Amino acid sequence: MNILLKMVQIGWRGHRHLLSIDDFSREEFETIFATADILHTYSGEGKQLDLLKGFILKPVFFEPSSRTQNSFEAAMLAMGGSTLSPHSNSTSSMEKGETQADTIITNAQYADFLVIRHPQKNSVRNFTKLLDGQTNRAKIINAGDGPNEHPTQALMDLHTIFKKFNTLDNLTFLLVGDLKYGRTVHSLTLGARKFNNTKIVGFPVGNLKLPNALRKNDYSELDLGQLPKFIKDLNPNSKTVIYATRIQWERMAKKIHKDFDKLDSSIKNQIKREIVSQFNYKISKELLDSTPSQTILLHPLPKGEEINDELFYSNNPKVVPIEQMRYGLSVRMAILGLFAGKEKEISTLYNGLSDISSN
Ligand code: CP
Repeated sequence: MNILLKMVQIGWRGHRHLLSIDDFSREEFETIFATADILHTYSGEGKQLDLLKGFILKPVFFEPSSRTQNSFEAAMLAMGGSTLSPHSNSTSSMEKGETQADTIITNAQYADFLVIRHPQKNSVRNFTKLLDGQTNRAKIINAGDGPNEHPTQALMDLHTIFKKFNTLDNLTFLLVGDLKYGRTVHSLTLGARKFNNTKIVGFPVGNLKLPNALRKNDYSELDLGQLPKFIKDLNPNSKTVIYATRIQWERMAKKIHKDFDKLDSSIKNQIKREIVSQFNYKISKELLDSTPSQTILLHPLPKGEEINDELFYSNNPKVVPIEQMRYGLSVRMAILGLFAGKEKEISTLYNGLSDISSN
């Protein structure tokens, strides 16, 4: 194999693909966050870098997305790269019967990054095996594999927390909602454990409990009804993250109805209402007001009934999901820049920033 191609394939610090948050060290997280901070200055308001000029990204989403897909596309554009049109089952050759695997290997011939979301656990990791031994340059980024993981979401969640508290050590995480199917919760749990003295307390809705594989000594689980008292008893000086998630009703619907995707939208909505009504919960303003002063509420979004618009759009400094969503852009710029091997060029940008601030 061409030695240059091999170097390109090894990727950032030996990681060719980005599949699980657990594959990365604390030091690598910190590099991503510092990079995101630098690149944040260069995003939006007509700014564009040329670091990824000539690089191409292909979004391959077999499940819907608003934030992950758009922020990856926006990140690529802000870095001076290009994006191919997003994959669609109906306009690609999948309509003619081509398999998902053949679709991935096809796209890998034309793009440097394949950002893939898929409904099945470990599917994205399995797609990477198709590239083994092939002379192509594509790196695969897991944008969510079913109920398993969503590593880039956890990176932006941790980055947001770091921006708020200036540390990721000694934090208490209260995970509230669907801890069984919520992949963002799973990646956040794995990521938070890379830092010191992390305490994680789960408050699952109904029987939607954290999978056994993620339960370690730092984890305890209580009934959702105990959340108000637990908050009241927290040390007033503690730094606390409440991480709320929506009910992943579509995963339950697909278990109940094999052909759920083919159902009429009015029937789908009826099924959604029935499932969600069984698991309803809310984070109220009163609950948030009773938290220690150094508390923030995060949510990966989209939100369901668990946070109402009044709280979501309020100027309450503890409510940060909109800011969190914005950091998704700079964190994804950092991921693309680092995985494209532009660490040195990004540090040069940092030196440029220091020059500007010292003048
Ligand atoms: N948080 C998240 O993954 O949002 P999308 O499903 O809109 O990408």
